Amino acid sequence: MALKALVIYDSQFGNTERIAWAIRDALSAKAETRLVRASNVAPRDLSAVDVLIVGSPTQRFHATEPIDRLLKGVSLRGVNAAAFDTRFDMDEVDSRALRLAVKVAGDSAAYAAPRISAALEKVGATIVAPPEGFIVNGTEGPLKDGEIQRAGEWAKGILAVL
Ligand SMILES: Cc1cc2nc3c(=O)[nH]c(=O)nc-3n(C[C@H](O)[C@H](O)[C@H](O)COP(=O)(O)O)c2cc1C
Repeated sequence: MALKALVIYDSQFGNTERIAWAIRDALSAKAETRLVRASNVAPRDLSAVDVLIVGSPTQRFHATEPIDRLLKGVSLRGVNAAAFDTRFDMDEVDSRALRLAVKVAGDSAAYAAPRISAALEKVGATIVAPPEGFIVNGTEGPLKDGEIQRAGEWAKGILAVL
């Protein structure tokens, strides 16, 4: 039977959605892949797949509310999973306060992907790739050059370990 993959994302300005498309396209080479916005998916859909990819824009150091809500109270035992986010490149951020806050918090508390990855693991998923961040050049984007291609490579790396 064909592998079943599900890519769930949230996106305010479309950048995370574009990364999710690239991941979907790469996974489609080997898996029957569905792409769904977090607000349009039911928790039970999450456990009916072999591989689950979850992505969110980083907002105030966190994933968005629809992503957090979805991952509460589901059981993902036996599901291979990985998380991604979109985020600023802190070296390019003007706000000294934000740069300092990120440094103090550490990556695992400052970005959406590590938080999503921890939430996936907590509900029983097997994490098959470290959380990954893709860079936007401003709040509304665009994505930094090369990030769409990098997203495809990241997804191919996941296929390779399944
Ligand atoms: C309210 C808000 C808070 C944000 N907070 C952060 C943040 O803490 N760290 C960060 O790297 N980017 C932050 N950003 C930038 C977002 O990560 C960026 O808007 C997002 O990657 C764009 O993705 P989207 O087009 O899918 O919404 C924030 C953006 C908004 C709108």
